[in-house]
Amino acid sequence: MIRFPLRAASVLLLLSTGACDWMPGKPTREEEPVIPADVHSFNTLYRNNCSGCHGANGQLGAARPLNDPLYLALASDEYLLKITNDGVTHTLMPAFSIANGGGLTDTQVHEVLDGIRRAWGPMADSSSLTPPSLISTTVGSVERGRGLFTTYCSACHGPDGGGGAVAGSVVDSSFLAMTSDQALRSAIICGRLDLGMPDWNGTINGIEHRHRAGLAPLDDQKISDLVAFLTSHRVEFPGAPFPSLTDPRDTD
Ligand code: HEC
Ligand code: HEC
Repeated sequence: MIRFPLRAASVLLLLSTGACDWMPGKPTREEEPVIPADVHSFNTLYRNNCSGCHGANGQLGAARPLNDPLYLALASDEYLLKITNDGVTHTLMPAFSIANGGGLTDTQVHEVLDGIRRAWGPMADSSSLTPPSLISTTVGSVERGRGLFTTYCSACHGPDGGGGAVAGSVVDSSFLAMTSDQALRSAIICGRLDLGMPDWNGTINGIEHRHRAGLAPLDDQKISDLVAFLTSHRVEFPGAPFPSLTDPRDTD
């Protein structure tokens, strides 16, 4: 007589312990949250930290493409590491190292940069080309830069750089306030292949752009001159004139 309730109790016990593993709402193993420092997949690290600005698959973002073999060939490991760890002050490029208040461990910073090189680095054979160095070795002249701009850039960016039929302004004071000299230099050397701006050699993916046909490749000095010309448009109060602060109702 006593046997039945005991058996029923053990069945219940079994059911209840087993049931705990699939209680409604309990996350499955795949859904369990991963501690951020434990993420080591390049795709996830890039997607979570870089793609918002540098674009999905490393291109077509607001900031320069990282999916750019020429850029990656010119940028040293130390340079990429420094920028990623420290960010670029006065621009939107954040610092990622934990020491600088970012959210990536040293290992993760290396993983994301190694991944960028592995995924997007290999260059087609370009041994005959000698692109200028990414870091400037010369001092630019605004006057020479103005002349070079007319020859090399106006067809797309307009006669004074304020915007043309093909591309927008590169002398806008707000744009220049948020962009470092180095980013301007990188753009002139490597172009914006994703958006249709040719590189130092006048080409996009190896094909000469018609607006650069017949023009010599840009060298270190010319690029410094162009950067000097662009940055001569920086102003003390970017974005001015500001909308009036006067209340229109105060006019009487
Ligand atoms: C909030 C936007 C933002 C995010 C997120 C971001 N970047 Fe940037 N990044 C920028 C901007 C803007 C610049 C250009 C800064 C300047 O003017 O020099 C830049 C510049 C860079 C440069 C230097 C480009 C040059 O001209 O040489 C590298 C390298 C770079 N970012 C890597 C990364 C990596 C790697 C990540 C992710 C771990 C990342 N960035 C995430 C906005 C961002
Ligand atoms: C064939 C057309 C073309 C020519 C020539 C050209 N650009 Fe551009 N440039 C573009 C396009 C397209 C963009 C993308 C932004 C846009 O559409 O305004 C761009 C973007 C830029 C940017 C911003 C880069 C960024 O990452 O935000 C700079 C700086 C720039 N150009 C400078 C120059 C300079 C300096 C020259 C001359 C050496 C030049 N460009 C020649 C088409 C051109």
